[in-house]
Amino acid sequence: MAQFKSKFPKNFYWGGATAANQIEGGFDADGKGLSAADFVEYIPKAERTKDNAMEITSEQIRKALSGESTARYPKREGIDFYHHYKEDIALLAEMGFTAFRFSIHWSRIFPNGYDETPNEAGLQFYDNVLDELAKHNIEPVVTLSHYETPYGLTERYNGWVGRETVDHFVRYAETVFTRYKDKVKLWISFNEINMITISPFTGGGILSDKEDNPMQAKYQGLHHQFVASSLATKKLHEIIPDGKMGCMLARMTFYPNTPNPEDVLKAQKENQDNLFFTDVHARGEYPKYMDRFFIENDIEIVKETGDDEIIKQYPVDYITISYYMSLLSSVSPEGEITAGNLFNSLKNPYLQASDWGWQIDPIGLRVTLNDLYDRYQLPIFIVENGMGAYDKVEEDGSIHDDYRIEYLRKHIEQMKEAIGDGVDLMGYLAWGPIDLVSMSTSEMSKRYGFIYVDKDDEGNGTLERSRKDSFFWYKKVIESNGEEL
Ligand code: BG6
Repeated sequence: MAQFKSKFPKNFYWGGATAANQIEGGFDADGKGLSAADFVEYIPKAERTKDNAMEITSEQIRKALSGESTARYPKREGIDFYHHYKEDIALLAEMGFTAFRFSIHWSRIFPNGYDETPNEAGLQFYDNVLDELAKHNIEPVVTLSHYETPYGLTERYNGWVGRETVDHFVRYAETVFTRYKDKVKLWISFNEINMITISPFTGGGILSDKEDNPMQAKYQGLHHQFVASSLATKKLHEIIPDGKMGCMLARMTFYPNTPNPEDVLKAQKENQDNLFFTDVHARGEYPKYMDRFFIENDIEIVKETGDDEIIKQYPVDYITISYYMSLLSSVSPEGEITAGNLFNSLKNPYLQASDWGWQIDPIGLRVTLNDLYDRYQLPIFIVENGMGAYDKVEEDGSIHDDYRIEYLRKHIEQMKEAIGDGVDLMGYLAWGPIDLVSMSTSEMSKRYGFIYVDKDDEGNGTLERSRKDSFFWYKKVIESNGEEL
């Protein structure tokens, strides 16, 4: 048999990804308003449950606003990228990054979401960040909404439940497209758009306790995000003709737990439930298989005249995903459960897990990429992948994170194989190239970075940045275009 050697294409993007609410801090600096992320409390591990870590109640909001709350809000602090962006971007450049993903904190631009005019200081901040990236020849990949719905929209419309939020989002998108048209070509509308159905407050600024039928509310909110995303794509192509819009999915690849046809069917169903979001974005219509789900769950999506046409006319240009792990589908209640990104799963005996129980499955990434490419034939960009781990700082300040190197190496190897399988892969952005506040737990000790940030879960630390072993390893990976792993 002839030997086949897969290679990364010449113009492959290498870099990392972040979100404003997890790095910036400066939550009320220079006119910024509050967003959903600013209400997420730090809950120590012993008291944390899957439900209280991210979902917020009206009572928690009231206490936060009245000053009665004694909680800490780590996403208000981030790692102070707001004041360290030059230093941080210089470190990314030292690793040889060719792309960097960040989100614009919507409430920095429109403090309440519904304001008539944008906040110039907010716009200027992202101009500064973009200029710094350009100085180092790093291509920006910009997310419009990464769990950062302005609180003003929650107050007025219960976030994305309200149709009005669509217009406010489109005005925000138009504002930033116009402002950054010469600086940003690659855009993403909603980070992990499937989040709205899992944690409606995180994904859509929706307070579930305000809704009689929370299930209906979140799918209505999702419909509004689909329409908003398509309208933003339309605007993008008008304002930046060579601009590209991507959708973003937290891709969950489900395997049947056994060859029992019932498990196989369940896995197929769970995969459909997850691919539903990209099906709408890429194929431009609601898939037929969702009709049954909507009927069985008493969901009736209210569509305005023209919504279906908008979704059809303005699909996305490329697909982006986060990939952290695979999951198992089973009809049996037996078996050990382990935690995962957004979902728990049965333990897969063939896989190891991270310190947080997320199952490590590099081959699953190859499976995922092949499936997605077969389904859509659109370019794919991995805009999140990585391993949250506890790091130990040695006496001399060094950090030997060989576990992280191992995780990334194995995933990159499988990406390369997927390219050999024929997948059109645009690039790879490791999640959290610099340590940041965890989305699900608001911890600092769950670290993803190549760059260490001196800050702990309680918010103590000098914020000093230092290079881990993985920093030097990734630099070589990029230099060799993925040949030296
Ligand atoms: C993704 C999110 O789901 O996973 C990121 O888009 C998040 O915001 C990342 O940080 C890792 O999750 P966590 O909970 O470990 O921070």
